[in-house]
Amino acid sequence: QKIVLAYSGGLDTSVILTWLKETYDAEIIAFTADIGQKDELDGLEEKALKTGASKVYIDDLRDEFARDFIFPMFQAGALYEGQYLLGTSIARPLIAKRMVEIARAEGATAIAHGATGKGNDQVRFELTAAALAPELEVIAQWRLESFREQFPGRAEMIAYAEKHGIQVQATAAKPYSMDRNLLHISFESGMLEDPWFDASHESNKEMYVLSVAPEDAPDQAEYVELEFEQGNCVAINGKRMSPLQVMETLNELGGKHGIGRVDMVENRFVGMKSRGVYETPGGTILFTAHRKMESLTMDREVMQLRDSLIPRYSGLVYNGFWFAPERLALQALVTESQKNVTGTVRLKLYKGNVIGAGVKSPVSLYNPNIATMEADPTQAYNQSDATGFIRLNALRLKVASGVRQNAGK
Ligand code: ARG
Ligand code: SIN
Repeated sequence: QKIVLAYSGGLDTSVILTWLKETYDAEIIAFTADIGQKDELDGLEEKALKTGASKVYIDDLRDEFARDFIFPMFQAGALYEGQYLLGTSIARPLIAKRMVEIARAEGATAIAHGATGKGNDQVRFELTAAALAPELEVIAQWRLESFREQFPGRAEMIAYAEKHGIQVQATAAKPYSMDRNLLHISFESGMLEDPWFDASHESNKEMYVLSVAPEDAPDQAEYVELEFEQGNCVAINGKRMSPLQVMETLNELGGKHGIGRVDMVENRFVGMKSRGVYETPGGTILFTAHRKMESLTMDREVMQLRDSLIPRYSGLVYNGFWFAPERLALQALVTESQKNVTGTVRLKLYKGNVIGAGVKSPVSLYNPNIATMEADPTQAYNQSDATGFIRLNALRLKVASGVRQNAGK
């Protein structure tokens, strides 16, 4: 039997690798998606082989992640519960997609992941697998009572690792859990489980990776120009870039200026509330720029329709329904809504803020002749028309008011 394991090289997935091999007497194929975790990938292949993997895949999926996952989601203006830019949520379907491709190519019968039974990630992995390869068995050992009994805590995992010659990072384990990719880093658990714990406090500086604190950002503001074509950012400061390059460039800029830190309590799909801290420097700039581009170029009714669907769309991404038919249907509407979202946005980055500093477009719907308070040479808008417009809109309000008055209320 062959099993493909989503492997990160951390204590959990290392223990799981060995445990799966022993328990199922199986060949374990370790798979790591490079979606921008940077130095977390160092030495991973060697480590997986040493831990007992029969084969290791470390696939660079960064271009695909930016182009086919992050960018379409940003066209939708997705934001979960008003704050979360979905950095982990959007990565899971891509990882799972590649995992099932490998399983098929290798003739594996099962896939395994190290997500716990209490979180969103297990749902995202497994809904994706169900949508793309329903024949595969999924092993989620944290949901097996026998596994949880064998490993009630970290101490037992470390002891198991040592017994099996798995190298455990000597550096003291961080007192929280992290998930890093091209779009963000998330921090959860540990001291963050207390929602009154101040993660922005000076004394917690060490936790952050992608950004400086706003109070430590440069005193000098920095301008940046983002060029959009049909809702996608295609150039920064006049230089054409791939989606991956856009994300990397914006992460650098945002991180430098302390942009994109979010601290929130969110609702997990499995029913509990959970506290998360996020660093999304580039994503925050892109999100703001995209919205400003739309403000100049998007039809009002199209915008209001698309906006009304943002909670729906975001919920689908958060809950793991990326490959579900309703997400694809919504995406078709989103793509259509972006056809005129073309032009340039100028922003000023300053101490955690993304400040609009100008917007222009060859297909702008903004007409200064119509909007001006000065005389309109084109006569496109006649102020006298507004009288009838207001009268008709007021009609039912007047009727209702009359009824209330007659009833003496
Ligand atoms: N709460 C976020 C989400 O559900 C982040 C999850 C982080 N996952 C992790 N394995 N550390 O999308
Ligand atoms: C986990 O439980 O594996 C991480 C957190 C989450 O998936 O929400």
